[in-house]
Amino acid sequence: MWFAGRRHRPHTHLCTRHGAMAASHYSISLWILSLSWSLTAVSGQSYHPTVNTQYGKLRGVRVPLPSEILGPVDQYLGVPYAASPVGEKRFMPPEPPSSWSGIKNTTHFAPVCPQNIHNAVPEIMMPVWFTFNLDIVATYIQDQNEDCLYLNIYVPTEDDIRDSGSKPVMVYIHGGSYMEGTGNMIDGSVLASYGNVIVITLNYRVGLLGFLSTGDQAAKGNYGLLDQIQALRWISENIGYFGGDSNRITVFGSGIGASCVSLLTLSHHSEGLFHRAVIQSGSALSSWAVNYQPVKYTRLLAEKVGCNVLDTLDMVDCLRKKSARELVEQDIQPARYHVAFGPVIDGDVIPDDPEILMEQGEFLNYDIMLGVNQGEGLRFVENVVDSEDGVSGNDFDFSVSDFVDSLYGYPEGKDTLRETIKFMYTDWADRENPETRRKTLVALFTDHQWVEPAVVTADLHARYGSPTYFYAFYHHCQSLMKPACPIFMLYWSVISIGHVIYYCL
Ligand SMILES: *[C@@H]1O[C@H](CO)[C@@H](O)[C@H](O)[C@H]1NC(C)=O
Repeated sequence: MWFAGRRHRPHTHLCTRHGAMAASHYSISLWILSLSWSLTAVSGQSYHPTVNTQYGKLRGVRVPLPSEILGPVDQYLGVPYAASPVGEKRFMPPEPPSSWSGIKNTTHFAPVCPQNIHNAVPEIMMPVWFTFNLDIVATYIQDQNEDCLYLNIYVPTEDDIRDSGSKPVMVYIHGGSYMEGTGNMIDGSVLASYGNVIVITLNYRVGLLGFLSTGDQAAKGNYGLLDQIQALRWISENIGYFGGDSNRITVFGSGIGASCVSLLTLSHHSEGLFHRAVIQSGSALSSWAVNYQPVKYTRLLAEKVGCNVLDTLDMVDCLRKKSARELVEQDIQPARYHVAFGPVIDGDVIPDDPEILMEQGEFLNYDIMLGVNQGEGLRFVENVVDSEDGVSGNDFDFSVSDFVDSLYGYPEGKDTLRETIKFMYTDWADRENPETRRKTLVALFTDHQWVEPAVVTADLHARYGSPTYFYAFYHHCQSLMKPACPIFMLYWSVISIGHVIYYCL
């Protein structure tokens, strides 16, 4: 593997295709069972563990899992990790939560951050299982509130011989094009129980409430990333109370969640707050990872709600007075392959262009695992595919031209670039076959949007001394299994005794 760092060891022991598939079906059914189980098990005569934190006591719930090999999990749902980001605190970095007296019940999910699933967005930014299951997703995001900075903790209750001391911690950063999503959607129970790790999911501000930037001091942006960092700070300071090891914290995410994790490795704000990162199908180097034109979209929004005054302080003041609902419901479409509201290079949280930061080694050393799935680019190609399941020559040419126009707007050398891409992504042995054309087009988008950014990220982290691992995932999901596939990845990357390890279940 040419992109491997000096401390990297190729994983020649990766499971066979057969093994991987068997394992995934097994895990998927466990996950589905555990989901329905945990929904019903909360009522009745449950055991309620209590735990202290710096801010007050929590009362959770013990949930049994429907498997002999999986011990029960203590869940603490809807734990506040930051103050409510409302009023004057909208478009501001998060602040620590306030303390409470007595015992706070944390047995139900807290509301999710305001989002609008209906005029959402470039579906291409969302995981396929997400877009294919909007109905399921919709049930999770019914209860929306700007007061949404909460996390969920899943604690295994039975030690095993692998690790009987304080437990490693895995923090999941959800994806969803920076515009939607919630940590509530991922049930961490099975991973916690199976892996003997504490799993944490969290909400962070999304869309304009999480990322609106005026490009100056009026609204500096990156609140959503700072929420993640505040959550990590809370975890660092409190996870010991739950039996967690604050020196073994792994952050992981896929898609936009992976871009966030990748960005967190570049920010000095998260220094010391985590130690390992799993970056699945995304990176800070993808074209949709960072918003390079924040002011344009902020002005567009301000115009739509009657706040477009010249002075940015006045504009942000005006936007703070609008209801979150009104703001979130504005339909603002980003350019193709880009985001309208997302992390910005503010010279602080993200000090510089991620590529420059990586090339200059401007990051701390973390143990890193990155990877890609086969055929990620399919979502860019789906609307090009005709009824024969193939791509016509004209559509192929058009897609490549559109790709070049959208991503490389420069006139000089554009023709050469376009022709080179066409040349490289034509299977010359089978060039008249529409199905082959479709495959090579998917490969083009997969390579450009996922593989290349991931490989470059892996290479640069490895070059500057971070132990780096890379995987490629080839399993094809059956349609029924789609929602579960990324979940399977959770089981796949289990942390044990200080190292990122691949498990073949
Ligand atoms: C927490 O829940 C228990 C059981 O439902 C209830 O008795 C108690 O009053 C609740 N505590 C608070 C602070 O709401």
